Amino acid sequence: MLRVEDLRLDYGPVRVLRGISLRVRPGEIVALLGGNAAGKTTTLRALAGLARPRSGRILLAGRELAGLLPHERLKRGLAYCPAERQLFPEMSVLENLEMGSYIWGRRARRSFRMSLEPIYGLFPILAERARQRAGSLSGGEQKMLAIGRALLSRPQLLLLDEPSLGLAPVAARQLAQAIKVLNGQGLTIMLVEQNAPLALTIAHRAYLLERGRITLEGIDLLKEQEDAISR
Ligand SMILES: Nc1ncnc2c1ncn2[C@@H]1O[C@H](COP(=O)(O)OP(=O)(O)O)[C@@H](O)[C@H]1O
Ligand SMILES: [Mg+2]
Repeated sequence: MLRVEDLRLDYGPVRVLRGISLRVRPGEIVALLGGNAAGKTTTLRALAGLARPRSGRILLAGRELAGLLPHERLKRGLAYCPAERQLFPEMSVLENLEMGSYIWGRRARRSFRMSLEPIYGLFPILAERARQRAGSLSGGEQKMLAIGRALLSRPQLLLLDEPSLGLAPVAARQLAQAIKVLNGQGLTIMLVEQNAPLALTIAHRAYLLERGRITLEGIDLLKEQEDAISR
């Protein structure tokens, strides 16, 4: 589904991504873990077309994404859900959701109500709060709204940046379960998290990012986590 090869990105003199290679297979949840400033958000922004790599390749379903604008990548099936400030707080929940189907033009907006059903099924609270200001929702509800809106672009691959950030443990676990349900419905997900234990409860594979480099991958990481828990 997604293949990233030797991605490098600098901010001025600062080397932020120092050659990142990773893969996400269809149907997987792949976690990208790492501490603060490791380059997780920058990686997602580069994938989404919001930050420009110096070199490297990004292939979605075998096709190179270089040179495509963010909305063109969205049309190819790549949706990005940022960690913060992703909503229009003064607009209603429903209006925020509607923005998600915007790229598909007028016809899609007509079928918008129908597309809402599965999203309301997953997050019933959004149906209850449809007329409310998005800014009045709790932190967890705002995350649900941001994810719901991303889903309305009908992605193949969803890039999620720290969905648990700022949430109470119960809300974070609920959101993780919802992400798992989405994946069970066929959505491929790349999940960026600082909260590794939480991410590893739902991820099929994981990469550890440290100072712009992948330092651990896959099964090793899950194994280390299990060992840490059993100790
Ligand atoms: N727009 C930017 N301009 C300059 N430096 C940036 C910018 N965005 C991120 N950085 C720097 O790049 C590094 C990685 O940031 P980021 O990708 O946000 O890390 P993470 O999401 O893993 O916490 C940090 O040192 C950060 O300060
Ligand atoms: Mg970040």
